[in-house]
Amino acid sequence: MASSPSLLLYDNPPEQEDSEIQVLGGLLAVEKSISPKFFYDEEGSKLFTEITRLPEYYLTRTELALLRENTDEIGELVGKSSLLIEYGSGNSEKIRILLERIRPKIYVPIDISKNYLTKAADALNDEYPWLEVRAICLDYTREFELPFVVEDRPIAFFPGSSIGNFSRDGALQFLKRVKHLVGDGGGLLVGVDLKKDINVLNAAYNDANGVTEKFNLNILCHLNREFSGDFNLSGFSHLAEYNAQEGCIQMFLKSKSDQLVNLAGHEIYFDKGETIHTENSHKYSLAEFHEMADAAGFAQLRCWRDARNWFAVFYLGG
Ligand code: AVJ
Repeated sequence: MASSPSLLLYDNPPEQEDSEIQVLGGLLAVEKSISPKFFYDEEGSKLFTEITRLPEYYLTRTELALLRENTDEIGELVGKSSLLIEYGSGNSEKIRILLERIRPKIYVPIDISKNYLTKAADALNDEYPWLEVRAICLDYTREFELPFVVEDRPIAFFPGSSIGNFSRDGALQFLKRVKHLVGDGGGLLVGVDLKKDINVLNAAYNDANGVTEKFNLNILCHLNREFSGDFNLSGFSHLAEYNAQEGCIQMFLKSKSDQLVNLAGHEIYFDKGETIHTENSHKYSLAEFHEMADAAGFAQLRCWRDARNWFAVFYLGG
């Protein structure tokens, strides 16, 4: 579907039926879970943007500063590429820094939230008349092919430590898929949240204003709408805690009482205190991430960090 000569939208959202099977599978299991990708309906994407501006949530502003401070070096490493692909582009804030420096011919934002993706792509299209925007609405956590032939060495961008949502093995598999996509000449610029003082981590996911709580609860709202559910949001509470063993922040929704919820024609029972696991957000040490990048087949590795060593941007190439 062409909105204008230089803006294309490839719409390939997950099948409703596949999503329903996935959601029911997670909620009918002994240990209940919902995939974090269901956070990002329109409201959830807005709430996430609000999170990125919270004083406790250091990730986004630290990464932005790293990208700004090191633009020249990043630009030199990345070199001239005519194709820039962004995974989970959201509101496309960070990409402006790279677009202006790399000046690719084509920008490919990939996101699961169609409205958000379209708006962001439209804005970029207006802002940069020299740029061709090919937006793709899909679930990048699954295997996928680009809907066009890649002729040049692409540069992939995966900011925000969204890679932390994958399990450690899932992240390795993802890096291998990216490596395959960008080939030998291409590269990946990826933002990674680092291991640090547990209190700093816990505060980032338990903000004083309760925005993260709203964000977590909104996932139930999304399911209600999408799969004809009757979750009562006030029947659940927000829980986020660093699990040192797993090296990740884990988020849950905890049932305040014994209750029965209907979803997609099924009945789901909750005991008081029972949890739904909604997110893992893995934190890496530099050594752990190096090892993983290496195992994925990236030979070249460069890393930028802030003074506190809280966040890292890696360039993986070769
Ligand atoms: C977008 C996955 C990077 O894990 O920090 C923010 C999502 N969850 N607060 C993260 C999130 C709770 C975020 N990522």
